Order: sequence, then C-alpha cells, then structure tokens
Amino acid sequence: MAPMPQPWPHWPFLFLFLVLFSCESNLHYRNGVEATQRVFLYPQSPKVSSIVSKAYRTGYHFQPPKNWINGPMYYNGIYHEFYQYNPNGSIWGNIVWGHSISTDLINWIRLEAAIEGDIPSDINGCWTGSATILNGDQPVIIYTGADTNKRQVQNIVLPKNKSDPYLREWTKPKKNPLIEPVGPGLNSDNFRDPTTGWIGPDGLWRIAIGAGLNGHSAALLYKSKDFMQWTRVDHPLYSSNASDMWECPDFFAVLPGKNIGLDLAAAIPNGAKHVLKMSLDHCDKYMIGFYDLKGDMFVPDTILDDRRLWLRIDYGNYYASKSFYDSKKGRRIIWGWTNETDSTSDDVAKGWAGIHAIPRTIWLDGDGKRLLQWPIEEVESLRRNEADVEIDFELASIDAADPFDPSWLLDTEKHCREADASVHGGLGPFGLIVLASDNMDEHTTVHFRVYKSEQKYMVLMCSDLTRSSLREGLYTPAYGGFFEYDLEKEKKISLRTLIDRSAVESFGGGGRVCIMARVYPAAIVDGATHMYAFNNGSSTVKVQQVKAWSMRRAQVNNKKG
Ligand SMILES: *[C@@H]1O[C@H](CO)[C@@H](O)[C@H](O)[C@H]1NC(C)=O
Ligand SMILES: *[C@@H]1O[C@H](CO)[C@@H](O)[C@H](O)[C@H]1NC(C)=O
Ligand SMILES: *[C@@H]1O[C@H](CO)[C@@H](O)[C@H](O)[C@H]1NC(C)=O
Ligand SMILES: *[C@@H]1O[C@H](CO)[C@@H](O)[C@H](O)[C@H]1NC(C)=O
Ligand SMILES: *[C@@H]1O[C@H](CO)[C@@H](O)[C@H](O)[C@H]1NC(C)=O
Repeated sequence: MAPMPQPWPHWPFLFLFLVLFSCESNLHYRNGVEATQRVFLYPQSPKVSSIVSKAYRTGYHFQPPKNWINGPMYYNGIYHEFYQYNPNGSIWGNIVWGHSISTDLINWIRLEAAIEGDIPSDINGCWTGSATILNGDQPVIIYTGADTNKRQVQNIVLPKNKSDPYLREWTKPKKNPLIEPVGPGLNSDNFRDPTTGWIGPDGLWRIAIGAGLNGHSAALLYKSKDFMQWTRVDHPLYSSNASDMWECPDFFAVLPGKNIGLDLAAAIPNGAKHVLKMSLDHCDKYMIGFYDLKGDMFVPDTILDDRRLWLRIDYGNYYASKSFYDSKKGRRIIWGWTNETDSTSDDVAKGWAGIHAIPRTIWLDGDGKRLLQWPIEEVESLRRNEADVEIDFELASIDAADPFDPSWLLDTEKHCREADASVHGGLGPFGLIVLASDNMDEHTTVHFRVYKSEQKYMVLMCSDLTRSSLREGLYTPAYGGFFEYDLEKEKKISLRTLIDRSAVESFGGGGRVCIMARVYPAAIVDGATHMYAFNNGSSTVKVQQVKAWSMRRAQVNNKKG
C-alpha cells in the first residue's frame, strides 16, 4: 500500500536534494517506497459542497466574471486593463469593455465599464481593440464595433478628462466609425482587433487590423497623420494563405538576448527584430522577422506553409493575448486569456468564466529564434498561500536520449497523449505531479522528455490533463510543445509552475515553452492535494533544489473604485 502523504509543514521555502533514479526506484507513490519525493503539499482548501464551488476560483490570476483581453496600458503611474466583459452573465454576450486599474499588475480595482455600445457603429458589440499613447501624454483606444448592420468597423474613444488619474470615463468622438470594411478582398465579418499604433519612418502612425483578405489571413495595414483619418495601405503588413483569418494581431519589436522592452512609438534601435503575433486555431502563434521599412511590410525569417509548425506563445489554453510596453520598468509584457474547460452549465453555476494568465515579460532569445517568457517579478510579492514552484532537473547524462521524429511537431498533443508519463523512455519522462488526490486517482503532470536530433537536443514539455479530474464533461487534453536546447552546455532543465486552484501555468527551459492549463479536480473541493517529483526514464535525474512558495491571494477586482 502506498504511504499516505503527510502534510508538509508550511515552510515558505523548501530546499532539498533528491535523486530521481530510473523506472523502478524512482518516485513511488504506489508501492511503498519511502515518500521522500513528496516535495510540497498544496494548502488545504476550505470544504465546500458544490462541485462548481469557489474552490476553482483562482487566487491571484486576474478574473472578472467574464473576460477576454483588450489592450492593457501603463499611463501616469497606473496600469489599466481593459477586458471583454458581459455584465449580465458568465456566458458570451452583451460585450462591453470592463476596466480595472493597478499599480503592480497583480492587485486590481474594478472601475465602471470604459466602453458600452450606444452609437450606430458599436450598438451590436464593443469588441477587442488596443490602447496607444500619443506623444507620451494622450491615451486613445481603437476598438472594433459591430454596427447596426452587424458589420465590423473600427471606432475610437478618448479619455473624458486626461487629468483623472484613473481615466474612468471615455468619450466617443462624432467621427466614428473611423475605419469601415471597404476595399478589395475585404469581408465585413472578418475585420477586427486593431493593434496598438506605431510610427513609421515617414512619421505617420500605423495600425494593423486582423482580417480575412480574399480568403487568406492578413494583418491589414492602415496609416494616419492624426489617428483619426486613416487610409488603407495597398498591401497588408503581412498575409498568409496557410489560414483564412487572424484575430488579435500584435506587432512589436525585440532585441535578441536582451530582456528589455521596446516602445514602438519611439525609434527602434539597430539590431532589433520584429514579432507578428496572431490568434487562430484556439491558440496564439507568432513569427519572428524584420520590419522592412521601405516596403512597409513584415518579413518573417522563416516561412512555414504548414501552420501547425508555427511557434506558439503558449502550448496550452491561452488565446487573444495582447502585449504592451511598460515604460515604468522598460519591459514588454504579454497578457493572454484562458477560458474555462468545464461545461457552460458549470460556468453559469459558478457565476464566472475566464481568467487571464499571469502577465509575462516577453523577450527574444539570444539566437533570435524563439521568444522567452517569465512571470512578472511582481507575482513574487505574493509568495505565501497558493503555490509557485521552481525546480531544476539536472541530467546526469544525456546519452540515453531517444531519437527525435520531426513528424511529432505536427501534433504535439497527440505525442504527449501517446507517450504519456507512464511510457518509460531514455531521458524522461521526468517532472512534477501536481494537484494529486490522496490515492492518485486524480493528478496532472507537467513533465519533460529529451530527444536527440542530429546535432541538437529537442526537449518536449507536456502538461497532461488526461487524469486531472474524476469529474465528467471536462476538456482534458495533454498539451505539449517542443524546444531546441543546448543540453551539452546547460545540463539541466528548469521548470516553474504557478498553481492557482484551477490554473496550472508552467514555464519550461527558462520560459522557452509555456503551457497554461485549467483543471477541476474533485480533490480540491474535498480537501488537500499533493505534489511530487517523478522520473520514469532510464537515466538518472537529480533535483538539487526545489523552491516552493505558497502564495497570498491577490486583491483582484474585489473592490469597486
Ligand atoms: C443587462 O441586462 C439589463 C436588464 O435586462 C439590461 O437593461 C442591460 O442593457 C443589459 N446590459 C447589456 C450590456 O446588455
Ligand atoms: C479632471 O480631473 C481632475 C483630477 O481628478 C479634477 O481635478 C478636475 O476637476 C476634472 N475636470 C473635469 C472637467 O471634470
Ligand atoms: C500560398 O502561398 C505560397 C507562397 O507564399 C505559394 O507558393 C502557394 O502557391 C500559395 N497557395 C495558394 C493555394 O495560393
Ligand atoms: C475553451 O476553449 C477550448 C479550446 O480552446 C474549447 O474546446 C472549449 O469549448 C472552450 N470552453 C468554453 C466553456 O468556452
Ligand atoms: C511511471 O510509470 C509507472 C509504470 O511503470 C506508472 O505506474 C506511473 O503512473 C508512472 N508515473 C506517472 C507520473 O505517470
């Protein structure tokens, strides 16, 4: 019989040394080997009766009752988050722009809605848009409205009183809509989600708008002198026939290897690269390239005709993200939306649905091939009650890595499902088991496998929800993403996981692959859950150090300002 896991004392920090040997002698929770592997105990949740109870409501992820992301911004010492919000229920509909403010991106105060549909050009919905700060002191928001004919058009709002530190009220100039879906190849049902503005070499403002153009996906390019009068440039910023529509495009500059942000409204330094992000297929994908100023277009470094191979911001449940330049700390922050994966009736019963992932700083790896992301440092101020875990897996040897098959890249979820944590390999699977019930009937794994591909190593990170809950009717995929890694040099793989009740948000290899996941174990409702490290590979993996912090709850939209 398995030893019943004992409560771990409530230490703020935990340092220990474990060696995770191969198959038989590794972490055994079932067959009676001593439970030294138990690295952390999830704090006891209050007992509650309903399965769709408060137990799943996250403690420090941003969540109003219903949301998805609009443009966040930093202005005059305050962070503003605007989000798609249904004031009347926890299912999609009646969309207005919710508005919350913060000084640290973690604790939030909810204000009155910033934009509600009340003019012909947004009467059927105020959808996603972005904030831009003109000349350092004039915030503006351009957003998509569904007009009286349910066409998608672009509108603008301005703060009523720029001196109000919270920018509570926004007004709609008479000129709305600014941009209508006219011109060759456009379709008024697929014309939305304007980006933050940037300035081109001619000094004119530009924005991009997500669209279907002649049935192909595109980020359309518009130019303006004053942000009011816009003309469409005769070619898109970028388009691709690998898909038919992009939502929520985002366009920003990064400097290889430098974790600093760049302000697109300022001069872009030499050596910068540009990133075009787009939302499609339930996920946020991106391309790295350069901004050809002469041609006024984005040129990707690599063009992949098969969109399944495009890089992703996150390989889990993460969509419609927006980034912004945080002038307070000189960093770029990306923020994504995560839906519920329980049922609509659960959402109605809970009275809320949808959270934001943790805001992440985002920058470009030194080799220029991949974006890196890391939870903003402010989240560390909460380290006390829900869990934040950092762990380094040291590889004793990398000789046992199994050969890599490139066809796995086409469907990483399928590979994570087939080669799950019980399938023993050469180097891995090893990783964490989180939110496990006493008898392991319910558990979620976040784990790695290392493969050898010619001269390089490919690391697979999976977040497997297949056994995350005994409840019925949940969406429980095995998410997965690959990253190339110089293991000869690094010799270890890091994992950071933020566990916030129904949210498990993981960062592998220093933020090379990120996976956001939603899980609804019955064990959270019934009592404590547990966390373990494991290794089911034939090679030994050492864990020199595990740091686990419980986290305080943040003040998220509890108060109305
Ligand atoms: C919410 O419901 C109330 C009452 O039915 C209605 O007056 C209001 O317009 C609704 N709000 C929105 C944004 O649809
Ligand atoms: C604008 O906001 C400032 C600061 O809150 C306030 O002092 C001023 O009275 C406001 N102006 C108007 C016209 O409401
Ligand atoms: C899609 O674009 C590629 C080049 O970008 C081109 O080679 C290919 O023929 C196009 N396919 C279609 C169906 O238009
Ligand atoms: C959440 O997203 C997933 C995949 O992106 C989808 O399958 C599911 O239906 C969505 N759930 C809800 C409640 O909208
Ligand atoms: C490791 O493999 C064994 C079977 O050999 C399996 O019982 C166990 O569940 C696996 N560990 C995980 C975390 O899946």
